Formats: sequence, C-alpha cells, structure tokens
Amino acid sequence: MIQLFHVSKSYDGAVTALKDITLKVAKAEFLFITGPSGAGKSTLLNIMFGSEAPTEGHIIIDGMNYYKIPPREIPLLRRKIGFVFQDFKLLPNKTVFENVALSLKVMGTNPREIKNRVLRTLSYVKLQHRANFKPLALSGGEQ
Ligand SMILES: Nc1ncnc2c1ncn2[C@@H]1O[C@H](COP(=O)(O)OP(=O)(O)OP(=O)(O)O)[C@@H](O)[C@H]1O
Ligand SMILES: [Mg+2]
Repeated sequence: MIQLFHVSKSYDGAVTALKDITLKVAKAEFLFITGPSGAGKSTLLNIMFGSEAPTEGHIIIDGMNYYKIPPREIPLLRRKIGFVFQDFKLLPNKTVFENVALSLKVMGTNPREIKNRVLRTLSYVKLQHRANFKPLALSGGEQ
C-alpha cells in the first residue's frame, strides 16, 4: 500500500509543485494521475520513489515510513518500485535486451528467467527484432 499524508513540495520556496496531497493506493489498485504539463505529476512520483524529499508531509510505502528509514536503506526500498522515467534513462552502452534485463538482474533473478521474461516483454511491445540494438538506434517511440 502507498499512503501520502499532507504532502507538499515547493522548489526554492517559490514554485509550489504539490500542495497538501493525501492519498491511499491499495495493493493491486490501478490508479491514473492526470493533469496538464507542470501540474506536478513527475514531482509526485519522484517523491514516492524517494528521489526527491517532500517539503512537508509523510509517505508510507509497503509499511515503511520514508522519514524513519535511514538514507542507506532507500535503495532497498526502490528495488520494490518499478518506475518508467519520462526521459527514459536508457543506458546508451547497453543493448535493448540488457536495458530491459537490468532491474531483474539487480533483483537477483536467475539468468534463464531473465531471458524468458525480457524476450516475452519485448515481443509484447513488438520490439523483439531490436533486442541487440543500442537505444540510440531506436526511434523515440521505440525508446
Ligand atoms: N527541480 C525543479 N526546480 C524548480 N522547479 C521545478 C523543478 N522540478 C519541477 N519544477 C516545477 O514544479 C512544477 C511541477 O513539475 P512536474 O515536473 O512535476 O510537472 P508534470 O506534471 O510532471 O509535467 P509534465 O506533464 O510536463 O511532465 C512545474 O511548475 C515545474 O516547473
Ligand atoms: Mg512529468
């Protein structure tokens, strides 16, 4: 479960990106967050991911309170969170296959299962023929 309590975020005390957000997302719940450009969607996700700190409020993810866990444990928490970044964050020196495989590798999944899941995922999005390409050889949509 993801819970946010009165979360606000301002940048340099000037721009208010989020103001008093309280929400609860239950396990297996599917939630869309929509809003115009600059509304604060990425800021909200960055805060849930622990890559930005809120100016005010608390976040509890999977029973862990971000304020109470030591910074060195944040990477462990992040391994439980799948995140597709707006600017892709693809690794240019790794192939498409290796980019998709990376998070499974970090989680210690066995190589055979990694191969199965990566190929299945690439074919699901019709990119199996690009598996051995580097990201920069792909179109924007393919990336
Ligand atoms: N690092 C930053 N420093 C200062 N202001 C920022 C910073 N990051 C975001 N902002 C501001 O916070 C507000 C929310 O930005 P955010 O990136 O969360 O919007 P968004 O909803 O994801 O927009 P988009 O749909 O364009 O991706 C915007 O006004 C933006 O200019
Ligand atoms: Mg955004």
